[in-house]
Amino acid sequence: MRIDIFCLFPEMFASPFSQSIIKRAKERGLVDIEIHNIRDYTHDKHHTVDDYSYGGGPGMVLKPEPVFEAVEAVKQQLSVTEIPIILLTPQGRLFNQQVAQELARFPHLILICGHYEGLDERVREYLSSDEISIGDYVLSGGELAAMVIVDAIVRLIPGALGSQSSPSSDSYSNELLEYPQYTRPQVYRGWAVPPVLLSGNHGEIAQWRRCQAVLRTAKRRPELLRKATLSDKEKKWISENLLSLK
Ligand code: 6GU
Repeated sequence: MRIDIFCLFPEMFASPFSQSIIKRAKERGLVDIEIHNIRDYTHDKHHTVDDYSYGGGPGMVLKPEPVFEAVEAVKQQLSVTEIPIILLTPQGRLFNQQVAQELARFPHLILICGHYEGLDERVREYLSSDEISIGDYVLSGGELAAMVIVDAIVRLIPGALGSQSSPSSDSYSNELLEYPQYTRPQVYRGWAVPPVLLSGNHGEIAQWRRCQAVLRTAKRRPELLRKATLSDKEKKWISENLLSLK
């Protein structure tokens, strides 16, 4: 998979993209991430990327020319024509695990990070094919959002997590939050691991985990349960336990 990111602060990506899962995926050749500085596509002496807003008002607006030229320069080098061009903006559709799975299926993605108070509307209208937000809060720029999205996507590429773990057991991949996990010591400061996990009974352990995941989701994120498929037994767990849940 190849991901091209267009932004004004390319140095921001150095550390997050050179550690852990993303680092390993790059080393294994599973993903090629190219960061481009929009400022490199300006032609004036001062490398101007922003300008005043037509109609007045506070704040600067990212100019269209360097954004179009940057994206077009990279697109020209590539044979694929149908590449999603995703604008990162708080006005976009909300990112979640389902969107991550959808994007992970593309061989190539282009991400454009907005900055300043805004971005010329013509980029939105005539260059991008999609707009994504990572949540209902305002970030100073799209760079952090791009890191979040790339991280969520790269770990879905087959082979990125190694043989031990699988993204299919993650929170959200089955519409439920994850069950509680424990490791040694068996008793820490007097707090014991739930005995069922030490029982060696795999059926009972699986049922306990499923019950915990269902109850935890019901308590903390009830809106997620509407998308999940629950058996009658699981619905009964909820009605019996909801009041006592933490
Ligand atoms: Cl994608 N960009 C900015 N600037 N703020 C955000 C965001 C994106 N998603 C949530 N807040």
